[in-house]
Amino acid sequence: MTMRVLLALIAIFALAAASPLNPLSDAVINYINNVAKPGWTAGRNFDEHELPLLKTLACVNTTANGEYMKQNMPVKDGFFRSDLPKEFDARKKWTKCASIGEIRDQGACGSCWAFATAESITDRICINGLDKVRISSEDILSCCDWCGSGCGGGYPAKAWQYYVQTGVVTGGPYASNQGCMPYEIAPAPGHSHSLMFPREPTPPCTNKCRKGYDKTYNQDKHKGKNSYAVKGVKKAMQEIVDNGPVTAVFDLYQDFYSYKSGVYRHTTGFRVGGHVVKLIGFGNENGDDYWLVANSWNKTWGDHGLFKILRGSNECGIEDWIAGGEPVV
Ligand SMILES: *[C@@H]1O[C@H](CO)[C@@H](O)[C@H](O)[C@H]1NC(C)=O
Ligand SMILES: *[C@@H]1O[C@H](CO)[C@@H](O)[C@H](O)[C@H]1NC(C)=O
Repeated sequence: MTMRVLLALIAIFALAAASPLNPLSDAVINYINNVAKPGWTAGRNFDEHELPLLKTLACVNTTANGEYMKQNMPVKDGFFRSDLPKEFDARKKWTKCASIGEIRDQGACGSCWAFATAESITDRICINGLDKVRISSEDILSCCDWCGSGCGGGYPAKAWQYYVQTGVVTGGPYASNQGCMPYEIAPAPGHSHSLMFPREPTPPCTNKCRKGYDKTYNQDKHKGKNSYAVKGVKKAMQEIVDNGPVTAVFDLYQDFYSYKSGVYRHTTGFRVGGHVVKLIGFGNENGDDYWLVANSWNKTWGDHGLFKILRGSNECGIEDWIAGGEPVV
């Protein structure tokens, strides 16, 4: 072995030793489950090599969303109820609204802001007894040009306002041929084993329903009456109990990728960005108060697509920017 090769090898070993563990590695999963024991269980949702592309799943600048909400969204007020249940699951109150428990898949696109809002609107249309349609994530993602930058991220506060100002058409999951504008981005990552899965480009807005749909884009628009911020833990609980699921924004840390069950709290890893999800209930597990939340990373992720996160201590900022709205009835 030449000296030069030896030096190169030493350099490679030194680099490997200095680089942090892959947050998706078995070593980190074992650390969470056997050393940190944070009240939630980690497991394998993604392959280790998928780490770089998971960044595309983060979809919101939490600071900018917060600033926008403070300036442009009314805070919903109202009487505080003293009879809040200790435990609540919107799926059990509104059993006829199957959409509440449905888990969508945003694919390799930072569209969680459009997803959580479309999901929440869908549920609220059903809860108000109006319709059992699926509201299109795609319409918000592609056609709201002032909501953000599509797959590059956007603002749930603006998505709610788009619902009030313009309305949103219907649309099911990828390749479903359901509704006016089904989602156009295939499920991934987590199901893709390609090493370099790039962020998908934002599908262009067509302002048209798919071929064969029996309404026009304008006829299919479902409109909101209002949209608002909900401030405070009890107010948010009350809002979910009375009016249905809401959207919430939180800091996405690397350990969250490996969530499987239990009550999540940030335990290890770097902050990747902001994430947007749909709160559907709350409760207490082993002494930890939690929010029950629907993610949009397919039902193969986490606890059948759902997760629980600590409630009452603003874990990862989850209680800062909760939003909702009401459909035109
Ligand atoms: C997020 O928004 C804030 C406030 O608008 C801005 O200062 C910051 O640079 C943004 N962060 C990123 C990562 O774009
Ligand atoms: C979830 O992933 C599976 C496997 O890739 C896929 O068949 C399914 O359509 C995905 N679900 C949604 C809602 O896209």
